[in-house]
Amino acid sequence: MTHEAVRDRYDELASSYDETARKFGWSTPAMVGQELERLPALAGDALVIGVGTGLDLDAVKAKASGSVLALDIAPRMIEAALDKHPDVRGITTDFFAWDGPGSAFELIVCGGMLEFVRDFAGFFERAAELLTPGGYLVVTHELLIEGHPDYGPKAGSPGGSCRRPTQDLLSAAGSSRLKLARLRHFVAWTGVGAPVVYEMGVLRRRR
Ligand SMILES: C[S@@+](CC[C@H](N)C(=O)[O-])C[C@H]1O[C@@H](n2cnc3c(N)ncnc32)[C@H](O)[C@@H]1O
Repeated sequence: MTHEAVRDRYDELASSYDETARKFGWSTPAMVGQELERLPALAGDALVIGVGTGLDLDAVKAKASGSVLALDIAPRMIEAALDKHPDVRGITTDFFAWDGPGSAFELIVCGGMLEFVRDFAGFFERAAELLTPGGYLVVTHELLIEGHPDYGPKAGSPGGSCRRPTQDLLSAAGSSRLKLARLRHFVAWTGVGAPVVYEMGVLRRRR
């Protein structure tokens, strides 16, 4: 999927996203929240990449006492998030096109977005640049994607599937600045038939 296609798809989904998430048991924001609770209190600023309608934001605000900045490529998704959280600053942008500050964030959260990313090296590299030394990146992704058009037998054909453990993504990314601190698995969707397993990585920027 191109980034433009992702933006258009989520703009279309924005008005029904929260209801769909409830109906199909989208547990990622709650799981991210559990993971954040395990971290020490953080006095710095936080960045949420792919904030969607803001389902992660209560947990992020509870953990990081600095300011919270949220990014999303889909204008209607982030608008919904900011309506619920007027204290959060938001920017509508493709993360990869965002010219953000240097190492400014003690916490970065990215839940349910990595499925749309092809440039893992670029993702981890940029996230590492944005973190303060010792800062945390909490990232989830779907381990197995059935019928993913990007991984079909031929480019663009349906029916492919793809397994990408976080450890592999990290080695593919070749990032020496991030260290995997914790890894867990969870069922991200409960209401869609077979359980859909996601992986959650807690990574730390080396000091
Ligand atoms: C499945 S939703 C997850 C939203 C939220 N984190 C949650 O758990 O409910 C994925 C979000 O990532 C956003 N997204 C996808 N690719 C992006 C990119 N390259 N830059 C910024 N946002 C992106 C989509 O617009 C969408 O809102």
